[in-house]
Amino acid sequence: MNLTAEQIQDNWNELMRVIETNISSPRKEKLLEFYEQYADRLMLMPAAHKKEYHNAFPGGYVEHVLRVIRCANKQYNLWEDEGADMSTFTFEELIFSALNHDLGKMGDEEQESYIPQTDNWRKEKLGEDYMFNTKVPFASVPDRGLFILQSHGIQYTFNEMLAIQTHDGLYDKANEKYLMNYMPEQKPRTSLPFILHQADLMAARIEFEREWLPKLKGDKKSVDTGKGNFTLGNKPNMSKKTSTKTKALGTFKSDSLKNMLDSL
Ligand SMILES: [Fe+2]
Repeated sequence: MNLTAEQIQDNWNELMRVIETNISSPRKEKLLEFYEQYADRLMLMPAAHKKEYHNAFPGGYVEHVLRVIRCANKQYNLWEDEGADMSTFTFEELIFSALNHDLGKMGDEEQESYIPQTDNWRKEKLGEDYMFNTKVPFASVPDRGLFILQSHGIQYTFNEMLAIQTHDGLYDKANEKYLMNYMPEQKPRTSLPFILHQADLMAARIEFEREWLPKLKGDKKSVDTGKGNFTLGNKPNMSKKTSTKTKALGTFKSDSLKNMLDSL
């Protein structure tokens, strides 16, 4: 699946609007500065390097993050309706965690984790457009994401640390120490990690369905992107989606990025 240059641009504008609307100062300014610094990279990043995973196409990362934010908002309402103690975390903590849960996928300051596939056989026969950049030293996605945030002076709360660290739930065995405790005092004191995990799981499953179910059924028709129902207006500090454009397509810093977008 491919996004158009306009969809990539709209998604980026939406991501910036989410920060503007939901993150309080001075963290908001630090986040906006960070995202602006790495805009060219983050805007075009896939959410994964293998097509069998989810959203492995240009712009797939931001599209995935926006879906996780939407799903987290809906999960928030569900958990609240069912009587979860919502006083154990803030709505800003939920949005901050969803926004940055996969940030570690970007790689380090100098190098991207996912780079264009150089093996023509793999590209043509297996359809792999990306490969993992072996120059980037290994770290788990949550560990790298938290490292990037702290190295840019972006503070996070204990709840946010826990949610980002455990967003893969028990799909990551490293999370057993947080999520498989049977002693009440050792269980998380907030539902935030579970809400984020459910939102991420939901988003990744939907992305799998959009990419693969038509192919598995032999349906060559493209499927709807599922955009257009992003309403975050029913919580404090939230506002309805606007069509504000913060960056025109012609203002990218990098020529190669402009060329890549033009070819989409
Ligand atoms: Fe994710």
